Amino acid sequence: MASHSWLLLDHESPRYRLPEDLRARDPLGGRDCGWIEQMLPFVRQFSAQGDTVFDPFAGFGTTLLAARLEDRLASGCEVDAGRIDLIRERLARHELAHGTTLLHGSCDALDDAALPPFALCLTNVPYFGCRWTGAPVGSQLYDSQSYAQHLDGLRNVFHRVRAGLREGGACIAMVQNIRLGERVLPLAFDLARILGSLFTMEEERVLVYPHDGEETGSDMRTDRRHEYALVWSFASNVNASTCKAPPRCSMPCARKDTASPCSAASPAGCTTRKARHPQTRTSASTPTRSAWTPCCNGCACRASR
Ligand SMILES: C[S@@+](CC[C@H](N)C(=O)[O-])C[C@H]1O[C@@H](n2cnc3c(N)ncnc32)[C@H](O)[C@@H]1O
Repeated sequence: MASHSWLLLDHESPRYRLPEDLRARDPLGGRDCGWIEQMLPFVRQFSAQGDTVFDPFAGFGTTLLAARLEDRLASGCEVDAGRIDLIRERLARHELAHGTTLLHGSCDALDDAALPPFALCLTNVPYFGCRWTGAPVGSQLYDSQSYAQHLDGLRNVFHRVRAGLREGGACIAMVQNIRLGERVLPLAFDLARILGSLFTMEEERVLVYPHDGEETGSDMRTDRRHEYALVWSFASNVNASTCKAPPRCSMPCARKDTASPCSAASPAGCTTRKARHPQTRTSASTPTRSAWTPCCNGCACRASR
C-alpha cells in the first residue's frame, strides 16, 4: 500500500463486517459503518504493536477493531450511546474488548487524564447523510445546524486530537467533498484547511469502493464510492495558537436582496462569491490579496476571492 496513492476496496470480509443483528439495532442501519479493510493498511503502516490508536468518531468501532486485530491498544470517543454498546458487543464477539477504552461523548470535552497520548488518530469523519437544515444541536455533528457549524465542530475535535497525539504521530481523516442538491460543499478541502493549521500534511490517498450507490435519506448526492484519506503528521513546530479564527465565518453578505450576515463557512458554501471576510484582514482599508490570511475555520476566503 505504501507505494500507492489509492486503495481499491472491493471486498468486505464477512468475518469482520458489522454483524447483521448489530447493524439492525442501529436506527440508521449502520449506513455510515466503514470496513476493516479500509482501516487495516493504515493501522499497519502508521503505528506499531503496543501503540494506541485513537478514533474521535468511533461509530461502530471499525477502527478500534482493526487496531486490536493488529495488537494495538484502541481508544475511541462516540456521542451516540447506542453505538457505544454496539462497539462493546462487536469487540467482545471477537474477544478483543480488553485493551480498548471507550469514551462516551465528544473528545473536545475531555481532559488529559481521560484521553492519554496516542500514536495514531484514524477516523472517518461524520458527513454521510448530513442535512444542515437548522435542527436543534448538541455535540452530535450529524445534527449540525449548518455547514459552518459542522466545520466548527470538526475543528474543535481535531484541536483536541492534536493535544493528545504524540510527537511524530499521524492523524488520518477520511472524508469526501459533498454534492447537496445543486451545491457542492468542499468538505474534504475545508477539513484539509483546518487540519493544515494543526498538522503537517504528508499525503492524500483515494479510497475507491466500486459498489452500488448508497441512499443517504437526504438530497445529498454522494454515494460514497470514493473518499479521501488525508494523512497528516504531528510536528510541534506547527503553531496551533495561530488558529484564532472566529467561531464561524461572519462575512457580510454581498447579496443585494438581504443585509443579513452570511453564516456559511466559506465562499463556496455561500450563495454569493463576493463576500468579504473582515476578521482576517490586517488593515481597515480595502484589502489587497496580500492583506488576507487564511484561517483554520475552513474559510476559503483567500483562495476564492
Ligand atoms: C462516519 S461514522 C464513524 C464510523 C466508524 N468509522 C466505523 O466504521 O465504525 C461517524 C460517527 O461520529 C459520531 N459523532 C458525531 N459527532 C461526534 C462528536 N462530536 N464526538 C464523537 N462522535 C461523534 C457519529 O455518531 C458517528 O457514529
